[in-house]
Formats: sequence, structure tokens, C-alpha cells
Amino acid sequence: MARIELTHVTKRWNGFYAVEDLSMVIEDNAFVTLLGPSGCGKTTTLRMIAGLETPTTGKITIDDMVVFDSDNGINIPANKRRVGFLFQNYALWPNMTVFQNIAFGLGNIKESGAHVNDKDEVEIDPTGKSPVRKLTKNEIKRVVDRVSAIVKIKPFMDRYPSELSGGQQQRVAIARTLAPGPRVLFMDEPLSNLDAKLRLEMRSELQRLHLSTGSTFVYVTHDQMEAMTLATRICLIDNGLLQQYEEPLTVYNRPNNLFVADFVGNPAINFIEASGTQNGDKLNLEFLNGTKGTFSTQGGLDIDAWYAEDDKKEAARKAKAEEAARKPGYVEKTNKDHPFPYHIAKIDEITAEAAHTVTRNDYIIGVRPEFIHISENGPIEGEVFSAMPTGMETTLKISIGNFLLTAVVFGGMTYKIGEKVRLGIGGDNIMLFSRENGRRIANGSVTI
Ligand SMILES: Nc1ncnc2c1ncn2[C@@H]1O[C@H](COP(=O)(O)OP(=O)(O)OP(=O)(O)O)[C@@H](O)[C@H]1O
Ligand SMILES: [Mg+2]
Repeated sequence: MARIELTHVTKRWNGFYAVEDLSMVIEDNAFVTLLGPSGCGKTTTLRMIAGLETPTTGKITIDDMVVFDSDNGINIPANKRRVGFLFQNYALWPNMTVFQNIAFGLGNIKESGAHVNDKDEVEIDPTGKSPVRKLTKNEIKRVVDRVSAIVKIKPFMDRYPSELSGGQQQRVAIARTLAPGPRVLFMDEPLSNLDAKLRLEMRSELQRLHLSTGSTFVYVTHDQMEAMTLATRICLIDNGLLQQYEEPLTVYNRPNNLFVADFVGNPAINFIEASGTQNGDKLNLEFLNGTKGTFSTQGGLDIDAWYAEDDKKEAARKAKAEEAARKPGYVEKTNKDHPFPYHIAKIDEITAEAAHTVTRNDYIIGVRPEFIHISENGPIEGEVFSAMPTGMETTLKISIGNFLLTAVVFGGMTYKIGEKVRLGIGGDNIMLFSRENGRRIANGSVTI
């Protein structure tokens, strides 16, 4: 059981900020996934919490124990943080049996008051006042029995790793990590070596494991599907910067910005460029070769008020950055943050477009594929560009002039390539983003 708190944690190598000013709380018993593109700082974040990497600045606590504090020179070594790891290359010892692999770490425990309690769990004396003790053979056996039952590998205890399937090896690795009773379990892409079917199975087992151990799980992945399905909360990172830290469905439906909207969801969200003007408490929009529509929200939309608020936040952020830059020891970030290069899908993407100066009348409409509704009386005409039926649903690409939209249609409908279809944009979870800064302004509905 553990609650983890990071306060203004930064890790940089010279001017390269792998993690920049990260503050977050991982609640006790949470299953948090760290998600983001390759190189965004996920592993570094995990390693800092675990004690395998020293932050440049900041503070980290696990439960009430400060494990790192740059201001006070505290840095508790990894083996004293009572955390467990599971890495992508979980390398089991090839010359040891399953039992020996799992027991290995237990044999190395040499702590104050170390013993196995009546629930077959390792306990140590947190005050450190009891005499240092090692676990007995019998105690080790009891713990190994318990954890191997959790991951269902009891029939294989005498086998060697080479005599196990990939999934079974993975489970041995999990059991080995669970054995010493870590308060937190860190996993860094632990399923990436497995084939698609086994991954799915292991995901479900990890979810069960999370329930049955009651531990806090921090899980790194760059697979958004894995992050969505497993997590109680998703932490999305880009270029070392936290983008959003919320429940999976909030991240899916209410992404903070274009980056998050694009990263989460499969097939990916449709981005549609639009120009618009405020009309009462709605927004008149023009998009997709002259289609006209209105965007409205439940509470009414006030673009000027949104920008006024957003400008204030931006000014505060800038002032903070300038203040930080004046402090001694400040190092400029060389891996600059760039606006997210959102992608507009088109049939012909090669022909360059006339340059467009972005103003505050420019927007991006974000439409998840399930909200593109195909129906006879849909207001927009398109043509089926490609159709991919899976049986349960069909993913369609529909061309509207040169633009391509992705739609997901549920059920076993058949579409012919080249077929004319009519479509509309349905529901009230259509997202409106500022094209100027990529941030989400509101969710609402589009009437055409
Ligand atoms: N020792 C180091 N010295 C300099 N730069 C480093 C060092 N270790 C990592 N980095 C850089 O820090 C950034 C973050 O690395 P990290 O391993 O945390 O990425 P990641 O999000 O886990 O990516 P991936 O999905 O590819 O595993 C990367 O750009 C990496 O090149
Ligand atoms: Mg990594």
C-alpha cells in the first residue's frame, strides 16, 4: 500500500529536460499508466520514483517517507524504498528453476525484524529497531507458494525458464517481483515481448493482480489501448511535460489539447480545420470545403471570455518561467516545446497548400470516429474511400472532396468502395480546439 507524491521533479542532462517540473499524486492502490511517445520521459519518471535515477531537483515521497529531496539532500537508495520492478527484459535466471527464481530475492532479504506473517507475506520492522534477520527456508517456501498461486504457475515450480512459454515466463517474473511484498509495483512495458493475444490475456491478469494484491501499480506503456484499459488514471507526457493526468474516459472525452486528443483513441480522432465567428452564445463555423454549421455547448459558448481566461493562464505561466530563468543555476531547455503538429487526413497530401496566417477565428473540430454518423439524410455527402470490416464493426474512410474522415460503424454492414454515402456529426462530445494554441475550448455539438 502506498501513496506517492512528486513535487516539482525535474531531471535534465545538461540542457536536455527528460522530465520537467512534474508534480503529481499517485493515490494508494491506484493503477496509474504513464503514457506518451518514445523518448517523452516515462522510464525516467519511473526510475526516479523507484530510486534508480537521481532527479536534478524536486521532492518525492512514498507514503510518509521522503525518499528524495534535492533541497535537503535526501536520497534513499532503491533497495530501501520497498518497491518492486518489472521491466521489459525481465530476464529470469536460466540456470534456476521457477521456484529458485521466485525465491531468489527473498533469500537476500536482511532487514530489521524480517519475517513472514500468517498471511504468508513478508513483513519488516519499519522502525528498524528489531534485530536484523533473514527469512528461513520454510518462510521463503510459504511466500513462494502464495505468489505462485496468484499468477497460476504452481504446476511449473520445478521447470527451467526455457521449458516455459513466453506468457508463463512473464508470470514467473511477476511472481518474483511480488514475492518481497513491494508497496509499489513499477512496470515498464512488461508485455511488449508478448504476442497480441497473450498481451490481452496478461492485461486482464494484471488487472486481477492489482485487485488481489492491493498494491499501487505504476505502469509505463506507449500503447494507448493498454493505458486506457488498465488504468484508474492515465498520465500523459510529451517532451518531458505533463499534458493531462485524469481518468481514462475523461482523457478520451475531454482531452486538454490536440496532442492528448490525438494520442488517445484508436482509430485516431478526426481533426477538421474550421473558421468561425461568435453568434450569440454559439459559434458559426465553416469547414470541409464550405460546409456551414453551428457549434453549441450546453452552458453557452463565449469565445472571447475563454481566450481572456486562457491568456491570463498563459501570462502566469510565462511569468513563472521568466522567474525560474533568473534563478542561479538555471539551464535553458534545449529540447524546445513545439506546438503539436496535428494532422489533417487528405487524399492528396503532397500538393502544398497556400500559407495561412492563423488567427483567433481559426479552430480545429475534433470528432471521434464513432460520432461520424452515416445515414440517408445526413447533411454532408461523401464517398467510401476504404472499408475495413472486423465483424463487430467497420472502420470506414470517407472522402469529402480532398478530405478524409474516419468513421466507425457498429454491426455487420457492407460498404462498397466508391459508394456514395451521407453523413453527419452526432452527439454532444464534439471537441472545439483553438488552432492558435491547440488547447480545447469546449465540448458540444455541431449542427449542419
Ligand atoms: N543518461 C542519459 N543521458 C542523456 N539523455 C538521456 C539519458 N537517459 C535518457 N535520456 C533521454 O531522456 C529522454 C527520456 O527518456 P526515457 O527513457 O524516459 O523515454 P521513454 O518515454 O521511456 O521512451 P520509450 O518509450 O522509448 O521507452 C530521451 O530523449 C532520452 O534520450
Ligand atoms: Mg521507456
